[in-house]
Amino acid sequence: MTLFPAPPDTTAWRILHEARADLWVDHFDGRWLVQTREAEFPGSLTSLAEGVATSIYWRPRDKAAATAPVRIGGEEVTERFAVRENGASFWIDFAAGYSCGIFTDQRLNRRWVGEQVKPGERVLNTFAYTGGFSVMAARSGAETTTADLSGTYLDWTWDNFALNGLERSGHHGVKGDAIGWLRTFARQGRTFHGIVLDPPTFSRSGKDTFRTDRDYADLAGLAVTLLEPGGWLLCCANTHRLSAAQFEKDVFAGIRARRRRVLSHEAPPMPPEFGGDDYLKTLRIIVE
Ligand SMILES: C[S@@+](CC[C@H](N)C(=O)[O-])C[C@H]1O[C@@H](n2cnc3c(N)ncnc32)[C@H](O)[C@@H]1O
Repeated sequence: MTLFPAPPDTTAWRILHEARADLWVDHFDGRWLVQTREAEFPGSLTSLAEGVATSIYWRPRDKAAATAPVRIGGEEVTERFAVRENGASFWIDFAAGYSCGIFTDQRLNRRWVGEQVKPGERVLNTFAYTGGFSVMAARSGAETTTADLSGTYLDWTWDNFALNGLERSGHHGVKGDAIGWLRTFARQGRTFHGIVLDPPTFSRSGKDTFRTDRDYADLAGLAVTLLEPGGWLLCCANTHRLSAAQFEKDVFAGIRARRRRVLSHEAPPMPPEFGGDDYLKTLRIIVE
């Protein structure tokens, strides 16, 4: 098993990804979060962590939704702590349950957003979780709108803004169904230069359900109605159930259905530390 070295200006990354062994380790500024499919902790990791990790926490994947990770060794992590990625800072909280603050597989997409944005542009980040994409856009001078079902995650977003020394003025948070908000913004005639779509595989909000493999064309179509000419869409789908080819077909169909045209696009692979795994599909699209 080989540990992936720290990317530049980054203290939080996927240090070990053994997809075939169902073993994943995220390094959060010295604290390791180990995830396994197996219900037993892989003992060999303890020696691998020597001199690299200050503490090891473990969470079997089947319990991921409900439980915080348990400490296997090293220092106890009792409070949230800050990590860096691409020069930006984010709060990590091992006690948070579902996930601890950032999804390390979005490292290069967050960097891309930071590079893509020009000062004064409006960026909409939907299904935003703790606002990682909003922070990257705001650091580059954008006015951001961050949408998530969870008020807790919106608060976490503002904490991440503060951690990066970003003022709240010019930045908005909207709580509730992101698709509902996209419809509201369309009715209001609001526009954005960049929109991030990174929905969960399945979501329920009131009577409405969203499934990535069924509804992405409609989602992309709705988003594109809010997009300024020459603007960008970052579309992500986190599922093995949707092939990269079908994902592209769905997204492009949604854009075409709204009579908009793709000027250029790229479908980058996952970051190299994910060892060729391909569950996260990404499309970075410039729309005419
Ligand atoms: C996969 S995470 C998104 C990760 C995030 N884009 C990032 O890169 O950190 C899914 C997020 O979508 C939110 N969510 C789920 N269903 C939603 C909905 N219908 N409308 C808005 N947010 C929703 C969840 O609260 C969670 O924060």
